[in-house]
Amino acid sequence: MERALVLLHGFPFEGSYWQPQAEGLSAACRVLAPDLRGFGADRRALPTALTMEQLADDVLADMDAAGVKRATIGGLSMGGYVAMALAARSPERVDALVLCNTRATADDAEGRAAREKTALDALEHGPQVIARAMLPKLLSEQSQAQRPELVRRIESMIARQRPEAIAAASRGMALRPDRFSLLRGWTKPALVITGAHDTLMPLPTSVAMRDAMPGSRLIVLPDAAHLSSAENPAAFNQALLDFMNTYQ
Ligand code: MLT
Repeated sequence: MERALVLLHGFPFEGSYWQPQAEGLSAACRVLAPDLRGFGADRRALPTALTMEQLADDVLADMDAAGVKRATIGGLSMGGYVAMALAARSPERVDALVLCNTRATADDAEGRAAREKTALDALEHGPQVIARAMLPKLLSEQSQAQRPELVRRIESMIARQRPEAIAAASRGMALRPDRFSLLRGWTKPALVITGAHDTLMPLPTSVAMRDAMPGSRLIVLPDAAHLSSAENPAAFNQALLDFMNTYQ
């Protein structure tokens, strides 16, 4: 059976976020990078709060539709929350977990309040405002100063998302549970990836996930912040290939 890799995008992006991985990895495996509910071209109905469990169920349905029974499931940031929700729900569909620039803790009260503010900002002022607020935290200072095409690609991807999807996902992230008990019981292969300059998910967050998962590895990519796969796709893709070659 052809090996499959499912890549889940962060907030508030879309499946095409993973274009450098789809291009770089599709010779080695089948790559699925779906638009999560409400993002990109997806038009499934949006609840007020889009939970990570709902998104995980959607991804399982996407896998069914694509005839993919099991896959390596990777997610970046919010995509990582969805990957963990999927692994908790249907571990038998997961060959291995790849958790990128994400965290296993739940939000605290301050974090949940910030989610509601993001939701209201998106609904009242539109995605462009969200893009402007998020951009400085997503890319390294070097990327922001020296890679105008990447900055434009990221900014325009956020700016074209629907305010309702941004609001629903923001509220859904506020409801996610702590996932450390899942990670402590995870015995299949696992890889944690982050960017050396990620300030949204500082290194100790990734170290804690690596330490929780028996036998997992942590890779810290140079020249990358929160959007590590977009900022350093060559190193990101190589890390994924090397990892997948350890068990398939
Ligand atoms: C993301 O990149 O998906 C978000 O920063 C995740 C979050 O806000 O927790």
